Amino acid sequence: MASALPPEPVGVRVRAPAKINLALCVGPPRQDGYHPLATVYQAVSLYDEVHAAWAEPDEYTVTVSGEGADLVPTDETNLALRAARLLARTYGEGDSLGAGLSIKKSIPVAGGLAGGSANGAAALLACAVLWDLDVGLEELTVLAAQLGSDVPFALLGGTALGSGRGEQVVPVLARGGYHWVLAFGHHGLSTPAVYRRHDQMGARKAGGAAAGKLSQEMAGQARAPEVPPALMNALRVGDPSAVGAALVNDLQPAALDLQPRLRQVLEAGVEYGALGALVSGSGPTCAFLAASEAAAVDLSVALSADGQCRAVRRATGPVTGARVIG
Ligand code: C5P
Repeated sequence: MASALPPEPVGVRVRAPAKINLALCVGPPRQDGYHPLATVYQAVSLYDEVHAAWAEPDEYTVTVSGEGADLVPTDETNLALRAARLLARTYGEGDSLGAGLSIKKSIPVAGGLAGGSANGAAALLACAVLWDLDVGLEELTVLAAQLGSDVPFALLGGTALGSGRGEQVVPVLARGGYHWVLAFGHHGLSTPAVYRRHDQMGARKAGGAAAGKLSQEMAGQARAPEVPPALMNALRVGDPSAVGAALVNDLQPAALDLQPRLRQVLEAGVEYGALGALVSGSGPTCAFLAASEAAAVDLSVALSADGQCRAVRRATGPVTGARVIG
């Protein structure tokens, strides 16, 4: 007689990718404090995983392991936990649902790569499948936007144009695959702090606080931020050199002001042959575009030997958004 199989582990595992902003064009702050964005996201092959398992009704727990785990809150502010609760509140019946979440991190915390957003997106999908809810990508995307500006993109993946505060995403026509080298910083950067410094630097540039306020008011009436057409053309034809030359991040001066060492990291990458280099999102991760896989290997070895960053990883993009893997 065949021996009994071990019980199936009750749970769903989802992985979600990090993102790089190939362009991050920032307008003056809105009434609600958020900044209008025109951004091009690309999802890259660096993933966090979220496992969701059944728990008692209205019981929610989260554990975190891997890269920077001790920096991730495990209280009610945890984005994966908030995602699970939001989904249950919106589509569950009463307090009948619960989840035990475990997050396995590879994306650095506070790195400008939307690691927290990836965890939120992964938890939405994992719990929707675990609880067998009748919700599709569209419904999940609405909830994702409530969790954070970058969460809808973590569900979608690929290469996408982001507008609004970054939460409105549409896929863009992009050919080819891109080889990235990511240099992780020694210390994280807080996204709100980088936006604040960006605003202060804008005000200073306009000639002091009074002029800054005036210029922001004027800017409020100015045109909305726009992604450089050269980047869109380069993506359309799939020309890595042209993409490298068109990379732009309006938050980069603020990130460099808060962490001046990043300037040397960026310069080193260009010296070692990168087609383009920029701070990813609000930083401090620096992203370098390489001409080929071999060039990316050479570049990552050179940057590691250079010793200015905490760690160097290679990644390719675009990759798909949050997906069930088991
Ligand atoms: O949307 P999310 O919670 O990820 O944003 C984190 C913080 O980043 C916001 O509280 C805000 O300070 C800043 N932010 C911004 N404008 C955006 C996106 C984020 O000012 N478009």
